[in-house]
Amino acid sequence: MAPHLTIEGLSVGYGRRRIIEALDLPALTGGTVTALIGPNAAGKTTLLRTLAGLVPAKGSIRLDDVELTGLSVNGHARHVTYMPQALPQRVALTVFEATLSALMSARDALPTKEAHERALNALARLGIADLAMRGLDELSGGQRQLASLAQSIVREPTVLLLDEPTSALDIHHQMRVMQLVEELARERAIIVIIVLHDIAQAARYAQRIVVLENGTIAADGAPGAAITPETLARVYKVEARVERCSHGFLQVIVDRAL
Ligand SMILES: Nc1ncnc2c1ncn2[C@@H]1O[C@H](COP(=O)(O)OP(=O)(O)OP(=O)(O)O)[C@@H](O)[C@H]1O
Ligand SMILES: [Mg+2]
Repeated sequence: MAPHLTIEGLSVGYGRRRIIEALDLPALTGGTVTALIGPNAAGKTTLLRTLAGLVPAKGSIRLDDVELTGLSVNGHARHVTYMPQALPQRVALTVFEATLSALMSARDALPTKEAHERALNALARLGIADLAMRGLDELSGGQRQLASLAQSIVREPTVLLLDEPTSALDIHHQMRVMQLVEELARERAIIVIIVLHDIAQAARYAQRIVVLENGTIAADGAPGAAITPETLARVYKVEARVERCSHGFLQVIVDRAL
């Protein structure tokens, strides 16, 4: 059965400063992609880091019958993988070694051959098999982002959290990553939460959109319901049109900042 992730009464802050206050999110279901969008500083990264167990929080984050709040970082890592917005510091590993070590750190021991196959498969699915033996410190910005993504997907988590995973990518690789994320979600019934700033891209690839504003939910629903000119004006302070293109996909045309 597809897993469910439910958030109830979640409050998160840094020191005394509350960023997220009593947030409830109806269950996210495995096999679907949820896009988390919202203005800068809305709390998107904070929410993802909280779901990954990297920031202490009050309230409940339940994955089926397992309460995640209170689990150790390693306890979280068994269920949840988080790809950070800021790429990790330069490390003296090859792309293949980094992918393999991400896989090994998330799971109980796998036979070497199977682990190698999985790592290579993750690179191949992202179209970067040819980078396997290159050092992470000799990659371009976009290549590093793809390598970082390989480290997340290789773990085959139940919950996959991606924080702006396409921000450094050209349009071909953006599409490729979004298609792959959608495929992985469906193939393995993964719960995917992906932070994006490109609203049209979010609408095209996510089945559900959660709009975060000042740590609270401003809209939540299917793309057509969550993305409206009213929401964009209220949350993003822009005057915008939401229209369907000739293929039926939502497009956002921003006319001016309010
Ligand atoms: N480590 C930290 N210590 C203190 N405050 C923080 C820390 N990280 C983030 N904040 C604050 O928390 C708020 C939410 O930040 P967060 O990074 O979650 O926003 P975001 O929605 O991911 O924004 P962006 O789109 O710019 O990435 C901001 O006001 C930010 O200044
Ligand atoms: Mg962020």
